[in-house]
Amino acid sequence: MKIKTVSVKLADCDYDIEIGTGNLSRISSMVSDLSPSKVYLVFDENVECYCQDIQSALKQVGFHPLTLRIPAGERSKTIEQASLVWEFLTRHHADRQSLIVAIGGGVVGDLAGFIAATYARGLPFFQVPTTLLAHVDSSVGGKTGINLKAAKNMVGAFWQPSGVLIDTETLSTLEDREYISGLAEVIKYGVIMDADFFGLLERESIGLKNRDAELLVEVISHCCQLKALVVHEDEKETTGRRAILNYGHTFAHAFETVLGYGKYLHGEAVAVGMTCAAHLAEELQLVPLDFRQRQTDLLQAVGLPVVVEPTELEPLVDVMRRDKKNLGDQIRFILPTKMGHARLFDDVLPDSVIHSALQQVMQ
Ligand code: NAD
Ligand code: GLY
Repeated sequence: MKIKTVSVKLADCDYDIEIGTGNLSRISSMVSDLSPSKVYLVFDENVECYCQDIQSALKQVGFHPLTLRIPAGERSKTIEQASLVWEFLTRHHADRQSLIVAIGGGVVGDLAGFIAATYARGLPFFQVPTTLLAHVDSSVGGKTGINLKAAKNMVGAFWQPSGVLIDTETLSTLEDREYISGLAEVIKYGVIMDADFFGLLERESIGLKNRDAELLVEVISHCCQLKALVVHEDEKETTGRRAILNYGHTFAHAFETVLGYGKYLHGEAVAVGMTCAAHLAEELQLVPLDFRQRQTDLLQAVGLPVVVEPTELEPLVDVMRRDKKNLGDQIRFILPTKMGHARLFDDVLPDSVIHSALQQVMQ
């Protein structure tokens, strides 16, 4: 069994992310090392089988984990669902040494992390992510939270896990569309931080699409390493460094909001958003001529969209004006400068330039 470890080094705490194939049972020694008083497993209905495996592994080393199943999907990132979990913990006498383990995609991770951050003013937390998006993005870096009706991820906390266990075998049950959607975040890391990694993804696009196990361990651990670097430099997103992880996301959030959540999966919207950002960078003459084509070719090679259905531009720009990165009314974009580099741009852009980038991805 090939196992890789990525260390996340932060001002107040360090933790390890273990990445392997068929390594789920390692949960027993990773959790034992944390010596919790009790263990609570939070999972969603689509990952019950992994929760059972984890429960059995933990029982073998003397724990008696309590389990709490939540409904799958974004609808669980609400104050109502959070309240049900808080009440569950109270009924089952959670104390300050109790460990919350999140098993599932970004939804379970964000909700359970938020619970861990808030219950009894903070409990230890452990992540077992089971979607590709959660493997390479949401389980790393400590952002947790829930949605308000009008604003996604608006209430939350930075709350770092004590450890993360990634078993790529969990991806075997993930639907194709969800898996491919996660590849958008993988490609994003190459574009914004690592041209050599982008080259590897170009060469290995078929293996990537086919979920080649050995390749996945390499790719996921490299993404975690890149994200760990950024989070180390700017844990709480105060310097602008961490904001580069939002490449393509300003446009993506606008598509998701205006065209309706669920129509496009997050990664699909990010792929189109990255394409918009590349058009914008091209228009501003920030990137070499072949940049956008390379990015488009790779997104399409793994099955991601680079266009959306035509829609009115103003509602999209309205959403972009409410982006968390903005200063006042000014939309701030993460834009590439060459393959492997991106930065936060403060320049005020005329609406016509933003409209033009949006029009390029509408067919
Ligand atoms: P998700 O958690 O909704 O999972 C997608 C679907 O796959 C769900 O239906 C889920 O039940 C199912 N699923 C999960 N693992 C499975 C498996 N192994 N086999 C079969 N089905 C499985 O969505 P996601 O894409 O993982 O995460 C999206 C969420 O993550 C959003 O709420 C987003 O805001 C959040 N997010 C957070 C961060 C962060 O830094 N905290 C970063 C990116 C995204
Ligand atoms: N997903 C963006 C971040 O963690 O900052």
